[in-house]
Amino acid sequence: RLEKIWLTFGMAMLVVFLLVLGLSAFTMGMDTPNSKHHAHSIDPAKVSETPPFDKPVLTPTGDGEYEAVMVAYAFGYSPETLEVPAGSTVHFAVTSSDVVHGFEIPGTNVNMMIVPGEANHVSHTFDKPGEYLILCNEYCGIGHQMMYTKLVVK
Ligand code: CUA
Repeated sequence: RLEKIWLTFGMAMLVVFLLVLGLSAFTMGMDTPNSKHHAHSIDPAKVSETPPFDKPVLTPTGDGEYEAVMVAYAFGYSPETLEVPAGSTVHFAVTSSDVVHGFEIPGTNVNMMIVPGEANHVSHTFDKPGEYLILCNEYCGIGHQMMYTKLVVK
């Protein structure tokens, strides 16, 4: 009778041991080199707490260069308006806090997809003064047509 209890106990321990082993193998599998390049990916639900996207802002980085950290959301971009002197090169870093959006500046070569969970990068030098539209060219819902912002080059 006692042996039977111990045998059951032993079997239970074995099962637990195998489960733990299997689980650790599973989590190790999640950390393969293949998934490594997603190590810096952004949780779209936590964009507002993830630097640098917690503070979307246009920052001069010297020598006519600017960095524009931006967040695309349904249906707009943050920060709302950008202004740079003519001849400036703007390095955009854009993420989405919800779905896939577009980031197109008509009249320039800027045209990228804003993939949630990633920092999407593009740079452009704005030589001609004027108002540049930044618009969404990926259908993202009912407000898609209204999704745009402005870059003023002075
Ligand atoms: Cu955002 Cu269409």
